[in-house]
Amino acid sequence: MADSSLTIRTIDSTELPEFHQVFAWSFLDEPSGEHRWLKVLELERTHAVFDGDEMVGTGGILTRELTVPGGVQAHAGAVTVVGVKPGHRRRGMASLLMRTQLHSMHEAGEPIGILWASEGGIYRRFGYGEYASSVSMLTMPTRMPFHPGVSVSPTRIRQVTREEAMPFMREVHDRVRRTRTGWLSRVEKSWEVHLSDAERDRGGLTSYRYCLHPEGYVVFRVKHDGDNGGPKNELHVHELVCETEQAYVDLYRFLLDLDLAGSISFFTAADDPILHMVDNPRKVRRELTDGLWLRVVDVEKALPLRRYSSDVDSVLEVEDSLCPWNSGRWRFTAKGGEAVVTRTEDPADVSLDVAALGSAYLGGTRLSALRRAHRVVEHTAGHVDALSLAFLGTHEPHCPEVF
Ligand SMILES: CC(C)(COP(=O)(O)OP(=O)(O)OC[C@H]1O[C@@H](n2cnc3c(N)ncnc32)[C@H](O)[C@@H]1OP(=O)(O)O)[C@@H](O)C(=O)NCCC(=O)NCCS
Repeated sequence: MADSSLTIRTIDSTELPEFHQVFAWSFLDEPSGEHRWLKVLELERTHAVFDGDEMVGTGGILTRELTVPGGVQAHAGAVTVVGVKPGHRRRGMASLLMRTQLHSMHEAGEPIGILWASEGGIYRRFGYGEYASSVSMLTMPTRMPFHPGVSVSPTRIRQVTREEAMPFMREVHDRVRRTRTGWLSRVEKSWEVHLSDAERDRGGLTSYRYCLHPEGYVVFRVKHDGDNGGPKNELHVHELVCETEQAYVDLYRFLLDLDLAGSISFFTAADDPILHMVDNPRKVRRELTDGLWLRVVDVEKALPLRRYSSDVDSVLEVEDSLCPWNSGRWRFTAKGGEAVVTRTEDPADVSLDVAALGSAYLGGTRLSALRRAHRVVEHTAGHVDALSLAFLGTHEPHCPEVF
């Protein structure tokens, strides 16, 4: 329950230094220099929580398009810079911020909210569902051969400067992101944040290297390492974006064959094809973790936006204590890929809370797994399985950038 002495409002540009300090302190960080996350804030969507006159909490919403299954662009509020000053925690600051943000997204007609969570125990209570997309953390040795069926083209890959790379990368990214579930639109400032190359953002690695293929590109840093046993330099791939499967093969081969490199690491989609491209898949080490957390802000608008893989007709009973407009029973009918959602008084086939719906929305988590976890209740046999199939997409959702 929020403390009655707390207030919340949007900030103006004169308050940015104080905002920066509260946010940096909340992450046990230095409030010095220009912080990359602040560059991209939209002030009219950036809130601070005050205890009397003292700013004690921060949070922002970024206006983005999120690609949802079927290659549809959905308006999404990307929640960022959430923090509460140490010493003011557990008094309802974040709860007040979350509630305010959800109402503001609803008023702005944004049916979906998304975020990356610093910790796994925070956001479910606010209706954000975990594992809406996942991240596969891959590490692999270089020089691994491909499976004989994989052919590499003779296309030349060129290392260029950032200035040379940018126009091409912007164009390729904007075409590719529209086809990949979980990818986001990028405004100019989000490119700056995503490719921020200040010393403090490098974590002891080199600056970014940019390598272009006619149909894609790769951006990586290098961690230098080597001894008499040979070079063990690590390639840390930041982004690999390709318009064709051939470019993906060619760019992976380029990285695997790079002289003086010993290993590659890459935070990528759960279904990244590299595992199946190499002749020995066990050499690719993989750790799976949560990516986007997704909040269905408006059930009636969000569910019909995406496409579905099979036909289904079910009554869903949704529980949503923070967004009462979502609560109650909805008839969800998907036919030929399109869905219609209407209010109904008919008995529920399936009951679930809005966070479970968020986990399933992009096809990254199956409702059948959530039923086994006691997060979804089936009242009519067969409906959870039918819904699970319908919600699956053609590929695993993945968000290649943290915001
Ligand atoms: C996470 C954070 C923003 C929460 O702020 P807060 O004002 O303390 O949160 P609230 O008081 O509104 O807490 C709401 C509920 O969440 C719980 N909660 C808060 N932080 C939590 C955490 N880190 N882990 C688990 N539960 C947490 C509270 O116990 C409370 O539970 P209740 O509803 O059962 O009473 C704050 O702890 C913080 O700034 N942490 C460091 C920075 C950070 O991680 N930011 C999040 C970026 S994604």
